[in-house]
Amino acid sequence: MMNISIIGTGYVGLVTGVCFAKLGNNIICVDVDKKKIEMINKGVPPIYEEGLEQLLVENKNRIHATKDYEHAIQNTDVTFICVGTPSKEDGSIDLKFVKKAAEEIGKQLKNKDKWHLVVMKSTVLPGTTRDIVLPLLEQYSGKKAGKDFGLTMNPEFLREGVAVKDFLEPDRIVIGYYDDKSRKVLKELYKDFSCPILETSLSAAEMIKYASNAFLATKISFINEIGNMCKKLDIDTYEVAEGMGLDKRIGRAFLDSGIGWGGSCFPKDLDALISWAKRIGEESNIISSVVEVNKKQPLKMIELLKKHVPKLKGKSVGVLGLAFKPNTDDIRESRAIPVVKQLLKEKAVVKAFDPKAMENFKKMFPQIKYCSSAEETLDSDAVLILTKWEEFKKLDYTEKIVIDGRRLLEAKNTAKIYEGVCW
Ligand code: UGA
Repeated sequence: MMNISIIGTGYVGLVTGVCFAKLGNNIICVDVDKKKIEMINKGVPPIYEEGLEQLLVENKNRIHATKDYEHAIQNTDVTFICVGTPSKEDGSIDLKFVKKAAEEIGKQLKNKDKWHLVVMKSTVLPGTTRDIVLPLLEQYSGKKAGKDFGLTMNPEFLREGVAVKDFLEPDRIVIGYYDDKSRKVLKELYKDFSCPILETSLSAAEMIKYASNAFLATKISFINEIGNMCKKLDIDTYEVAEGMGLDKRIGRAFLDSGIGWGGSCFPKDLDALISWAKRIGEESNIISSVVEVNKKQPLKMIELLKKHVPKLKGKSVGVLGLAFKPNTDDIRESRAIPVVKQLLKEKAVVKAFDPKAMENFKKMFPQIKYCSSAEETLDSDAVLILTKWEEFKKLDYTEKIVIDGRRLLEAKNTAKIYEGVCW
């Protein structure tokens, strides 16, 4: 059992805290947001993640939230930095929250006699923990890393929506370490996990996270590029993906072709990597192309729609799904954004529905019609499927023109006119 503080209660911080509590540790969460602190202390998670609420309630006596760094650092032995790393206008990473956390932790370490371990979990570019976090910790604490306090980099690989499961059943755990004592303490914290634990340098751990996300996005853009060729040749890309995936060196996962990737991670991380490559004078040809393919992919929907409804002006278009993937209300970089933008540009009447993401989408597109049910969107000249929600499977597509970006077999098998983007 260890006493752990977690800085930042976004989905990474909260999931990390709650899961470590489930494993028997005592957790103090630190956040600047008073509302979030109150909610966590009441046992109500401020975000939705499957299984999170139950774990928070079950382990309430071991989780406490506060805005007080002093209380958190003085009463724990290990601190995880889990703050956000948003993008700046130019795609580069904004480290203001990371720097602030390092400063605050440093100030508290100054008054602490005992050794303390700092763990960087936020996604940061290679070199950041060593060249930015470490100097700030030393500067504000007046102490020495590797001697008076420890430092590690421990990236997260959590998918939104299944983050609790991903935390508790990971494929691997990566421990980037500065000094040997830190490595041993963090390894001890993960002792109940049966997956491989990889020990690396701080910067390799940071790069593993970026390279993994960039590779996953590459798989998707790759199969979409192949998929666009398949569509022209009347080939079902899913048959191709299955055939490729049986080769162990390739694997079937992340070869679902469609309208591309969105969300809060892939777009931000790939942009950061591209702008980082530029700064260090290196090329990022593959990653840049992966992003380019992804920008064009959603517009295939409009191209296919126009095959059947050539003039969109004044025509009603039902949009099924606004979230960047099912089971979330997150619309960040959702493929629905460029599709709806183009529909509006061509003066179509957009009728949208999403089980969870309509409130968020309304903030960005107040001018479109939001339907009260999925059925209502079907009452349109054509229907576009943009997110693979379970409930869209139950709709009656028999009389409809359907353009499908996510391969909903129920629509494929029943619609009057059906077009899949890559099949
Ligand atoms: C992603 C990674 O999968 C996590 O491992 C990582 O930890 C996380 O980013 C992060 O950096 O924090 P997430 O953004 O939650 O997780 O979403 P995914 O489930 O990976 O899906 C990303 C996008 O790719 C979605 O828009 C999805 O529809 C699309 N996708 C995924 C495809 O188009 N085809 C596929 O085969 C798989």
